[in-house]
This record gives sequence, C-alpha cells and structure tokens, in this order.
Amino acid sequence: MAEFQLSPAVDLAPLTTLGVPARAAWFGMPRSLDALREAFAYARTHRLPTLILGGGSNLIFARDYPGLVIKLDLRGREKIGETPAAHLIRVAAGEIWRDTVAWTLAQGWPGLENLALIPGSVGAAPIQNIGAYGLELSERFHSLEAFDPRSGELLSLDRDACRFGYRDSVFKHPDDAGLVVVSVTLALPKRWEARANYRDIAEELGAQGIATPTPQAIFDAVVHVRQRKLPNPTELGNVGSFFKNPVVSAEQAEKLRRDFPNIVTYPQADHRVKLAAAWLIDQAGWKGHVRGHAAVHARQALVLVNLGGASGAEILALAEMIRADVERKFGVLLEQEPITVSHPN
Ligand code: EPU
Repeated sequence: MAEFQLSPAVDLAPLTTLGVPARAAWFGMPRSLDALREAFAYARTHRLPTLILGGGSNLIFARDYPGLVIKLDLRGREKIGETPAAHLIRVAAGEIWRDTVAWTLAQGWPGLENLALIPGSVGAAPIQNIGAYGLELSERFHSLEAFDPRSGELLSLDRDACRFGYRDSVFKHPDDAGLVVVSVTLALPKRWEARANYRDIAEELGAQGIATPTPQAIFDAVVHVRQRKLPNPTELGNVGSFFKNPVVSAEQAEKLRRDFPNIVTYPQADHRVKLAAAWLIDQAGWKGHVRGHAAVHARQALVLVNLGGASGAEILALAEMIRADVERKFGVLLEQEPITVSHPN
C-alpha cells in the first residue's frame, strides 16, 4: 500500500452534488494507475464491492455503501496529436469537466462550449454521454482508455466501441459497467462551426444582438442560460435532469398532440418522437412542489432538489410519485437518468 491510502467510514454527502447522507465503509482516492490497481487488489482480497465516484453529480445514494468507494484523482490534459479534421486532446478522468471546457477554449481549441458548466468529472462524461444545447459529447469524442479490474488490463475504446446513445453508453450496461474510464481523448474540430440553434441559446444571443457568434459568445450564452434555469449544486443539491426525455412512437405522439396541442416534441431521425419530460411534469402540476426536504425545482421541472437534509429515499419517493402521475395523465413512462446506488454490485 505504498501509494494508496484507505479511510474507513467516510461521509459521501460532500462528495456528491445531491448531498444526501451516505457513508462508505471504505474510501480511497487513487492518484495513479498503480494506486488504482492497488485499490482493486485490496477490494478483491477483502471481498469488498467497489464503486467508482467521479464528480458525484449523477449518483443517488439510497443507503450507506458497504464496500470500497474509489474517487479517481487522475490529473493531466495535453494535446497528443491531430487528424486532418481535429485536434486530439487527452484528458485524465479526474479532471473537472467544467474547467476542461474553459481550458480548451483558452488554448484556442473550441468545440465544447455548448457543454459549458456541466458538473462532474471528465471520466464520467462518456458514461452518460453528457449533452446540452444541441451537442453531445459523442460528437467531440475520439477514444478513451479504460481499466478492466477483472483482467488488470488497460483497454482502448473508440467511439463505436462506446456505443453512445442519448444519455447512454456501453458503460451503463451490466457487461461493461465494471470498466473504469481513466482518460478521455477529445476530437476538437479544426474548422469550427457555431452550434446555436437550440432555442434558449438562439434567444440569448438574439437578445444581445449577436448574429455570428464566436465560441466565447456561445460559451457565455450557455453559462447565462444554465445559471438562470438550473440550480447551482453548491447552493441547492441536485443531479441535473432527473429523467430522460422519453421517446415515443409517431402514433403515440400524434395522439398526444391531439389531446395536448401545446405538448413539446422533437422529431427523431428514426421517425419516433422525443417529448420534453419537463413539459409533462410541469403540466401535471409538479413544478415547485415541495415534499418534506425534497422538491421539484421552481425554474426547471425536470430537476429535483435537496432543500437541505433530504435522504436519498426521500428524493426517490418524490420521483416515484411524479413518474406515476405522468404515466396516469399522459400514458408516458419516464426513465430515471442518474444512477441509484442501492445495493452493492
Ligand atoms: N419546459 C417546461 N417546464 C419546465 C422546463 C421546461 O415546460 O419547467 C419545457 C421548455 O419550455 C422546453 C422544454 O420543456 O420547451 C425543454 O426544456 P429545456 O430546454 O430546459 O431542456 P430539457 O429537455 O428539460 C435537456 C437536458 C438537459 C440540458 C437541456 C439543454 C435531458 C434529460 N436533459 O433538458 O441536461 O441541459 O436539455 O440542452 O436530456 C442533464 O442531463 O442533467 C441536463 C441538465
């Protein structure tokens, strides 16, 4: 145990953006690949389940964690090469996503500005294929390195191997859920083009009279919109959108449009239709609803917040009530987006 130090009984609340109480039986913060190997060796020897923690911004602890929680603290960012179309920038998993977006912009490599201010670590970004304001990580992704604790090997996965989908990747599925992302290589376009069609961003730029935005102008617009609508997790605990925007068949969307003419819909390439979950929850009357220490955010119905002192179970119970009500009123099932940690793997 030269490199890797373990602490018993660590409070995880300050290490997550939701801030609900949960205790890890064991906790460690490996700063190198060797230390990460040691962590897994320790867990194997002591038969402890393991859980990887990034920025803790997409996890809900429903109870204490009886095993070893590993918060990866691998650092480093560098340009490692280029393709005809892109700069290749490798970023270690423990770097903060928000800071990395600002850093790439300052280096003269725009392309991530629509994903400004998203909480969490770089290593967590591919797991849910983070997305916002008309851009998903998968579009700026080249490859990643992942540690496989079962074989002890380091694997390289390209974009196809990650099987990215809407808030989804291979890492959310049981077979590959054990892989630990240790670095992400981004592909940032040499010929940058503004991505400014998303309504909130177009309106923000329009209000400032900006017709041909620079990367910095888009970055600033995204920051303004996020600050206006989404709660700052350091002030009000939350995990961002609590549900995915549901995708329904064209027939079901047509019927919903007849019954609810104002429903917000986004046609998909495969003819199915994505619905705005925030609109469904808002229309069902939940926006701003308070239940104990948990609430639906007053400015974004898709975000549940910890008003202070909420337990994970309390947040999940509110989510369940919303899900049942939306299903009853609209016949649409909402799928939870963040990961619930309820029992060891
Ligand atoms: N709306 C309402 N009521 C509300 C909020 C929104 O009716 O309280 C309506 C809006 O008028 C709009 C529509 O719902 O027409 C969509 O709202 P918004 O543009 O705010 O986006 P969203 O679909 O609620 C998604 C992502 C966010 C991302 C934004 C911007 C998911 C699950 N969420 O939210 O991602 O920031 O778009 O791109 O896809 C996250 O994943 O944690 C997250 C915050």
